[in-house]
Amino acid sequence: MTRKDFFTRVGFGAATLLIPACIGGLASSCESEDSPSAAPTNVDFTLDTATGSLAANGGFLVHSGIVVARTNSGAFLAVSASCTHEGTNVNYNASGNEFICPNHGAQFSSTGVVTQGPASTNLHQYNTSLDGTLLRVFS
Ligand code: FES
Repeated sequence: MTRKDFFTRVGFGAATLLIPACIGGLASSCESEDSPSAAPTNVDFTLDTATGSLAANGGFLVHSGIVVARTNSGAFLAVSASCTHEGTNVNYNASGNEFICPNHGAQFSSTGVVTQGPASTNLHQYNTSLDGTLLRVFS
């Protein structure tokens, strides 16, 4: 196989079609990352922990811009979901009891404090209270 054949077969042709779109800023996938969203305010909602992601220790979900997590010891946490770096929703890592951004790897403590960049601003922490299986999340 010649060098020309190799590039033709593995997508050099496709790459030459995509590169001009990125340079011209025409393709949305080539645009810069999202901006972080402001932490939700005036929060007050209730979730049923009897079913779904919060039914088991280590589970989490995102609701109304807030990531709600159940630790391995059964406690509940709630912080703003939008990473303060560029806005990707953070995930809860139960083994480390921390929130991790899947985009560039920023890490936050269970209370939302930055423990590893590139984010430099903390997540906002919300209050939680449990009544039976009903979890209230509020400002
Ligand atoms: S968006 Fe960059 S670390 Fe979260």
